[in-house]
Amino acid sequence: MILQQISTGGCQSYLLGCGESCSAILIDPALPQLDRYLGVLAREGLRLRYVVDTHTHADHFSAAHELKDRLGVPAVMHRNSVAPYADLRLDDGDMLIFGDLRLQAIHTPGHTNDSMCLHIEDRLFTGDTLLIGGTGRTDLPTGDPDALYDSLFNIVLKLDPATQVFPAHDYKGQSSSTIGREIAENPRLQQRDRAAFAEMMQHLNLTAPDHMTEALRTNMCGGKTIEQMLAEAARKVPFMSLAELRTRLLEGGDDLIVLDVRERSAFEAGHIEGARHLPRGQLELRVNQELPDPTLRILTVCEFGKVSTLAAATLRELGFRRATALDGGMKLWREKGYPVEEGAQ
Ligand SMILES: [Fe+2]
Repeated sequence: MILQQISTGGCQSYLLGCGESCSAILIDPALPQLDRYLGVLAREGLRLRYVVDTHTHADHFSAAHELKDRLGVPAVMHRNSVAPYADLRLDDGDMLIFGDLRLQAIHTPGHTNDSMCLHIEDRLFTGDTLLIGGTGRTDLPTGDPDALYDSLFNIVLKLDPATQVFPAHDYKGQSSSTIGREIAENPRLQQRDRAAFAEMMQHLNLTAPDHMTEALRTNMCGGKTIEQMLAEAARKVPFMSLAELRTRLLEGGDDLIVLDVRERSAFEAGHIEGARHLPRGQLELRVNQELPDPTLRILTVCEFGKVSTLAAATLRELGFRRATALDGGMKLWREKGYPVEEGAQ
């Protein structure tokens, strides 16, 4: 069996492959590693058959939706998952077969009600049900300390103690553990009384994960992250450097239209000499009056270089085939000491 553990900060994802058939599955992929997964699959000569999330993640962005779209593989989750993009929903005990390998889902609610552990041979991919030296928290949406108690003490910890444990998170650089070691050493598992365990879980006083709202929005509803929206826009447009624009302005005579898409107050406080003003929020409404010639070369400018990328992508979609975005924005332009002009257009 081919096993690759791919870490993103504290998030762990796992690529499992059958060397015989070259088929593979990917467990808990994270969006920032998308190119890495595709690269490793190609390098190892593996064909992805399934992409599986052990639960609805609240702390990072799952790449399952994107991988499903790009590779045409089923996104797999537990039956309780609300993710609209999950095509294959598993019940407790269901198995996935890829090549000679068989992966069994064990429903282990508690961290979330759609949590499952994935069992293959002597390995258990525990999601956030059991971590090395810890457990998943139970204070996020659909968490339940009582259910986690049952999942741990009545299911997971009853497996063979030699079973290797691979969690969805580890913040201390540990790659795996065993059931036996966790029973002996995991501080959370020393509290074996149900009520005391629940009491402990309810008083951990953990801060909310970073990006929780965006993670739940994307993982539960199938929406895109802001980063994805920007990356998609960036792939559709070319960029111009600040230095290139500065040179062109100094030389004069260029047919370039500098289009500042910030709000009026920001424009009036200081803009590039000769820039035209059309706020991003009014772009589609006023583009026909303001920019009647679609053959013009338009360079969009904003404060940080992100909204201008979205604006240039919109202009390209609208038929402005020469729309380009500034690489950077007015903040960097001012920091470089390049000249700005005040006042209305
Ligand atoms: Fe989680």
